[in-house]
Amino acid sequence: MTEGAAKDPRLFRDVLGRFATGVTVLTVNVDGELRGMTANAVSSLSLQPMLMLVCIDRNASAHPLWERAEGFGVSILDASQRHLSELFARHGPPDEPMGGAPYRTGPFGVPLLEGALGHASCRIVSRLPGGDHTIVVGEVEEMGIDRPDGSPLIFFSGAYYQLDGRL
Ligand SMILES: Cc1cc2nc3c(=O)[nH]c(=O)nc-3n(C[C@H](O)[C@H](O)[C@H](O)COP(=O)(O)O)c2cc1C
Repeated sequence: MTEGAAKDPRLFRDVLGRFATGVTVLTVNVDGELRGMTANAVSSLSLQPMLMLVCIDRNASAHPLWERAEGFGVSILDASQRHLSELFARHGPPDEPMGGAPYRTGPFGVPLLEGALGHASCRIVSRLPGGDHTIVVGEVEEMGIDRPDGSPLIFFSGAYYQLDGRL
């Protein structure tokens, strides 16, 4: 068992890392500049209206784009897309648009990754301060399940996994 001071940021990461999540690539298009970012701080927020929230590091190089974007795209990664999670977690803009990953364009011009399990495109309705992150709330404009039989990429305790079957 590991316990520690409530203010130990490393323990905080380790504890919250036990909360297994899927992995998404969040995208924006600001005046034709496309950016994707790997993110798991992504949640449904409200059913009526349909709202999602995503948390963007204020120190992320793409944060200024997120301040200006009208909307964002969410691509929920399939287990076969680990390389895309790694690609969009890299520092800075890629050399070619969306790092050469295949995509189509959704509402607000946002790139949506081909081969993802599902996607949503959201209109940004608010930006809230959240410590060293900005909480961006978006209203779903368009969404879909792209691979009904796909299997999610899982992030747990700092590593990637795939599902091992239904309990
Ligand atoms: C699995 C995973 C989940 C992540 N989740 C988030 C997140 O929710 N919000 C965020 O701001 N960064 C998140 N990151 C980090 C960003 O992907 C990464 O810092 C960013 O793409 C690097 O950009 P920069 O160095 O150009 O700022 C995550 C990274 C990984 C690997």
